[in-house]
Amino acid sequence: MKATTSDIEKAAEVLRAGGLVALPTETVYGLGANAEDPAAVSRIFQVKGRPPTHPLIVHIGGAEQLDEWVEEVPATARLLAEHFWPGPLTLVLRRGRRVPLEATGGLETVAVRVPDHPLALALLETFGGGVTAPSANRFGSVSPTTAHHVRAELGDAVDFVLDGGPCEVGVESTIVDATGEVPSILRPGGVTREDLEAVLGRPVAVPATSQVRVPGQHPSHYAPRARVVLVEPEKVVAEAEQAQELGHRVGVLLPPSLAGAPVKTHVVETVPASMAAYARGLYGLLRELDQRGCDLIVASLPAEEGLGLAIANRLRRAAGPRPL
Ligand code: TXA
Ligand code: MG
Repeated sequence: MKATTSDIEKAAEVLRAGGLVALPTETVYGLGANAEDPAAVSRIFQVKGRPPTHPLIVHIGGAEQLDEWVEEVPATARLLAEHFWPGPLTLVLRRGRRVPLEATGGLETVAVRVPDHPLALALLETFGGGVTAPSANRFGSVSPTTAHHVRAELGDAVDFVLDGGPCEVGVESTIVDATGEVPSILRPGGVTREDLEAVLGRPVAVPATSQVRVPGQHPSHYAPRARVVLVEPEKVVAEAEQAQELGHRVGVLLPPSLAGAPVKTHVVETVPASMAAYARGLYGLLRELDQRGCDLIVASLPAEEGLGLAIANRLRRAAGPRPL
């Protein structure tokens, strides 16, 4: 069921009363609270099972509101905000006094973005303030891209779910540290490195996935229940069939170049050749393989350019070492 105008009003009311609202964005669904209500923000951490030191993103209704939430807007940050908002870009800047430390995990910087989804923007306008929202999933698991995913994972822990249909982008926003002169990518996402470089007119650094740069960027994140194994594209079929023979229930994410190849495993899914379609479907696919009982997922990485960079980052993290 899609949300109506009265749903937007109800959701804004829930936020004002200190409750939690799951809201659609163009990237993934967020678990939102009034950014200026420390008790409500703290509830987000409880519901997600997320350590309180992991900073959240403050969602605002427009680029013109940025100065209300941060201490200072360097020229580069202004340029990026004006160019990419509303859109899947998050800017890390110096925290304004309006932002409680609960929302930033105690950091003196804050992550801010303007989501590009009509319902999210309508909610932000009706509510009138900022909404802190991490992805609406339990800590470490796969982000939700439909309202159904949110309800299945968080159930009654959320006071209201605003259904905006499936998310268009499917992977989270690109996070850019814009505190200094030279911006760098902290997390690749919906806005590509190439897009950023075209606007800035210079190269933008992307740290290696293995480097844990900021809280909330642990190696094992965005992970399905099934273990994920990454191999070269030409080894996917052999690796998957061997694991299946050893007794695993294997789900294969088959590269598009191998579409139609016969593979003897529990589930076979050919991934789309278009990176936009792959990103849109990635989390739903991982959830589906879990649901169909796979205990092992064999996949390969796409070329790390355009949206392929974000997809490869999520697959690497899903395959990363897990806490015991
Ligand atoms: O697309 C998205 O960004 C989604 C939608 C709901 O907007 N949100 C999202 O939130 O992915 P979350 O909480 O799952 O990831 C936000 C990440 C944190 O894990 C952290 O790595 C980074 O943003 N972050 C937040 N504040 C930061 C800060 N002050 N400095 C550095 N990184 C920060
Ligand atoms: Mg998340």
